Amino acid sequence: MTSVAEPCPPELAADTDADVGSGTHAADRRHVWHPFAQMEEYLSLPPLAIASGRGGWLTDTEGRTYLDGNASVWTNVHGHNDPDLNAALQRQLGRVAHSTMLGLTHAPGAELAAELAQLAPPGLGRVFFSDNGAGAVEVALKMSFQFWQLTGRPEKTGVIGLAGGYHGDTFGAMSAGDSGFFHARFRPWGFPAVHFPAPVCHEWGGHVHAADSTASLAALRALLAERAAQTACVILEPSVQGAAGMRLQPPGFVREVAALCRGHGVHLVLDEVFVAFGRLGPMLVCADEGVTPDFLCLAKGLTGGYLPLAATLAREEIFAAFLGPYESGRAFFHGHTFTGNPLAAAVALENIRKLRLLIAAGTLRERLACFGRLLGETFAGHPHIREIRQRGFAAALDLSPRGEAGVDLPGGVPRRLGLQVCLRARAHGLLLRPLGDSLLLVPPLCLDESELGELVRRTGRSLDDVLPA
Ligand SMILES: Cc1ncc(COP(=O)(O)O)c(C=O)c1O
Repeated sequence: MTSVAEPCPPELAADTDADVGSGTHAADRRHVWHPFAQMEEYLSLPPLAIASGRGGWLTDTEGRTYLDGNASVWTNVHGHNDPDLNAALQRQLGRVAHSTMLGLTHAPGAELAAELAQLAPPGLGRVFFSDNGAGAVEVALKMSFQFWQLTGRPEKTGVIGLAGGYHGDTFGAMSAGDSGFFHARFRPWGFPAVHFPAPVCHEWGGHVHAADSTASLAALRALLAERAAQTACVILEPSVQGAAGMRLQPPGFVREVAALCRGHGVHLVLDEVFVAFGRLGPMLVCADEGVTPDFLCLAKGLTGGYLPLAATLAREEIFAAFLGPYESGRAFFHGHTFTGNPLAAAVALENIRKLRLLIAAGTLRERLACFGRLLGETFAGHPHIREIRQRGFAAALDLSPRGEAGVDLPGGVPRRLGLQVCLRARAHGLLLRPLGDSLLLVPPLCLDESELGELVRRTGRSLDDVLPA
């Protein structure tokens, strides 16, 4: 690994702990099985262990600093080691770290539920906590399934998803999703679901370059006409399908889907695990689009990237259908040990308070516009980039030597071009994660204009190192 010649915040540069680093690497190589990794490949690559972080920067055990270009897997909002989030966490730690929500409650959990209900479109008044995005999706699917049984329509069990959808890696989430390359082998264990084609939308730098929902909506209309009576819900990620490589939807698409679902008596589950909490500008995409889904799934940015916490919001009428005497068996028998953990809830409340200010001041909007502009200036017309997709702080750059067609996911095994660029980026003091032959740029919301400039410039240098002009 070459040393980092790029500038970094000076207070981070001294944060070195090489002895800890070597112990960490030894234990990691001997014992850890990493997520989403071909471990043979992982073990062949230079190791990297993070020791600390501040703002949008992370420091490894050798003292090298990196811009966190994927917001620690799309979670980070106000930066690492944020003094306000730290203080909220420490205040709660001084009271109690964990107390169950099974049969009891606590102030941060109850307050957070009220806060989420207030942020959500009117009617989404009930909040069920879990601790990861897939879990939030499972809860919505199971609630929809049970609702139809409780209301005398047990035949409504089907699920319709959007092509390319990703909702997590548990069986329900995999079944509802359409991440062929990742999940295909588990299909026989999942439940059947059908998928309608995604709309087309090319957008970056705040400009929609092409958009068409016609075929997508026609396909959904046909599916609903044929099978609404057997369908429990339609599920999709609104606005941006992140894990499909930042596939965008034209403005208004979600409203049309919602109208079709309502018209056919089918629940709409919106999975905002990736897009909520300012990632695209607004706090919640559905509220911004004026759409009230039947279920709303939240995770990732909910705690500003600090702790695992997720929430499924449901409409009051759905909640009411589950009420009755215990013997009626109408209860939703689902839960997780750390459901609504008070530390996570306390941090989430502080995260939301700060995010409201960032949005109200117009600061976030300016940063998102700056990011789009910088991407356009640097990468539009680049000889090795086939396509840019960007909305808010979510961007994908599709790579290919001299613009030739690459291998996209889902569908085929990529050439690892993205990985090569991401490995090279480490030498430029930047952490990125690839998706096949694409680079995904998902910055923490705290990056200011100069840091966004660094992110784009370092990405460009890494790309040029791997694919010289
Ligand atoms: C839209 C969406 N839903 C669900 C998930 C799964 O979340 P988790 O990894 O917390 O289970 C993800 C993760 O990337 C996601 O992007």
